[in-house]
Amino acid sequence: MRSHYCGELNDTFVDHEVTLCGWVHRRRDHGGVIFLDMRDREGIAQVVVDPDTPDAFARADNARSEYVLRIRGRVRMRPEGTRNPNMATGLIEVLALEVEVLNTSVTPPFQLDEHGKVGEDVRLRYRYIDLRRPEMIERLQLRSRITHSVRAYLEGQGFLDIETPILTRATPEGARDYLVPSRTHAGEFFALPQSPQLFKQLLMVSGFDRYYQIAKCFRDEDLRADRQPEFTQIDIEASFVEEQDIMEITETMIRQLFRDVLDVTLPEFPRMRWAEAMQRYGSDKPDLRIPLEMVDVDDLMTSVDFKVFSAPANDSEGRVAALRVPGGGRLTRKEIDDYTQFVNIYGARGLAWIKVNDRSAGLEGLQSPIVKFMEGVVDELLDRVGAEDGDIIFFGADKAGIVNEALGALRVRLGEDLALYTREWAPLWVVDFPMFERDDNGRLAALHHPFTAPACSSEELKADPAGALSRAYDMVLNGTELGGGSIRIHDHAMQQGVFEALGIGEEEAREKFGFLLEALAHGAPPHGGLAFGLDRLVMLMTGGRTIRDVIAFPKTQSAADLMTDAPGEVSAEQLRELHIRLRSKASEQS
Ligand code: AMO
Ligand code: AMP
Repeated sequence: MRSHYCGELNDTFVDHEVTLCGWVHRRRDHGGVIFLDMRDREGIAQVVVDPDTPDAFARADNARSEYVLRIRGRVRMRPEGTRNPNMATGLIEVLALEVEVLNTSVTPPFQLDEHGKVGEDVRLRYRYIDLRRPEMIERLQLRSRITHSVRAYLEGQGFLDIETPILTRATPEGARDYLVPSRTHAGEFFALPQSPQLFKQLLMVSGFDRYYQIAKCFRDEDLRADRQPEFTQIDIEASFVEEQDIMEITETMIRQLFRDVLDVTLPEFPRMRWAEAMQRYGSDKPDLRIPLEMVDVDDLMTSVDFKVFSAPANDSEGRVAALRVPGGGRLTRKEIDDYTQFVNIYGARGLAWIKVNDRSAGLEGLQSPIVKFMEGVVDELLDRVGAEDGDIIFFGADKAGIVNEALGALRVRLGEDLALYTREWAPLWVVDFPMFERDDNGRLAALHHPFTAPACSSEELKADPAGALSRAYDMVLNGTELGGGSIRIHDHAMQQGVFEALGIGEEEAREKFGFLLEALAHGAPPHGGLAFGLDRLVMLMTGGRTIRDVIAFPKTQSAADLMTDAPGEVSAEQLRELHIRLRSKASEQS
């Protein structure tokens, strides 16, 4: 029906006849001449409809926003003085010869260029309208170019695209499962995959050697800006590899992707040990665009007369850390109070601070609610953090986990609020993760997943599981965990040892992962891999604020789809077929 996209036209088409199909973006009546801004996925072109073509004119006169039109016309230069160099098609216009109304439209719920005036709920409810916005189209176009580049690279490296099941058994990645009741097996459920982890390992056992998949994953977890219940991974696995191999393949992939799609050459990817990342940045995904660093001051605080500091300083699980903010002396009392409330969210019970007004004036030159307790140590403290006039130094004192979370988050927030970024892109690898962390009940839980190989022998793992490191690696970009992976356990006994350390008994292991254990005993090659969060990658590359901005049909914070109104109730008959009886809402509350 069309000869060209609206957005494709430019001055090389002058005097050509074109046929456009698209939507009326805007309609303006200018003293007897009608201007239609026609829009399609490639952009907008201005169409002029003259009363000399009476049929076309009458139809254009009746057209309204978002009507679907087909227009045949001739391209011409816009008159001098009306050219718009900021618009791709701004030098030309199309003089309409024929206008056909392909469809009308009811009044849209919001004008595309006024989307900011409605809430995100309205945009999600009418997502098909929201997706007409040039910004959204560009993001999805970029997403498609990204997956294309990734596929081309991986295919070129000999990776095979193999699909894995969606209806499957639970795959433990640490989140709650989405379950699907079975009609044919009463009382039994499928789980949707949290990732293709186990299947890709089984493909390695089969000998496929290099696998990839752009795979949908499902996790029922608390949602945040960078988490959706249903999201996409670029999932990769290879055999006969070590950490270096996977890191090299995937780093090259990301470098090439940034060059292909954004024309950006990424800087070096430094490697940082997990312990160092926690110590310096309070985070396992540090944003290295921000030059602030946490500094340990425990040893200075062991005998100060301020229990808030001395108690954690004397506790082996405690931490007292300082965060120096150059130029932060100008923060107002109100701003400091806001930051104090902010760190409360992460469990911090306060946010002590020292403003360095004039270092040469000694204690007199400092302003702080706590400096009176620190007389003996303040000089050494200021030296250690490298304090200069005009700085503010913030402190966190508590269990190490709380201090890391609170000051780590404060560091990121200050970086944003005070525009401290030193560069646009800051990638890195985080390595040498611990195998396990303690959960709230003090039990060991896998930090990555239970199929990750330890960096030590089974004997060493057994002797000190809490101290063991793993062969896992994460790729971090601008403070976002883009991807994570590991070398896997390919030895049956080692896998059982890890299950044991996790408190998964032999019987439970057989019941849940029997197929994997069995496969490992059938000649499993050494293997490893990694998965990237595609949505997060696209978010960073398009400058989106949340991954909802780069997913065509995302879900809300409460995991609902406002457009289709899913999840929804089902009929009594469907429930009966699935062998399900619902508890009444009243009894559920009791
Ligand atoms: P992991 O759980 O680290 O590893 O997930 C890999 C990457 O997927 C992205 N991601 C998410 N993106 C959006 N919403 C979510 N809810 C969400 N959860 C995770 C992140 C993360 O880095 N099987 C392993 C990979 C492996 O070992 O090969 C796995 O799934 O960007
Ligand atoms: P207080 O003596 O409780 O008034 O606290 C004095 C200062 O220490 C205030 O600025 C508090 O915000 C701060 N503070 C209190 N608890 C902590 C903590 N756990 N870590 C860091 N600062 C704290």
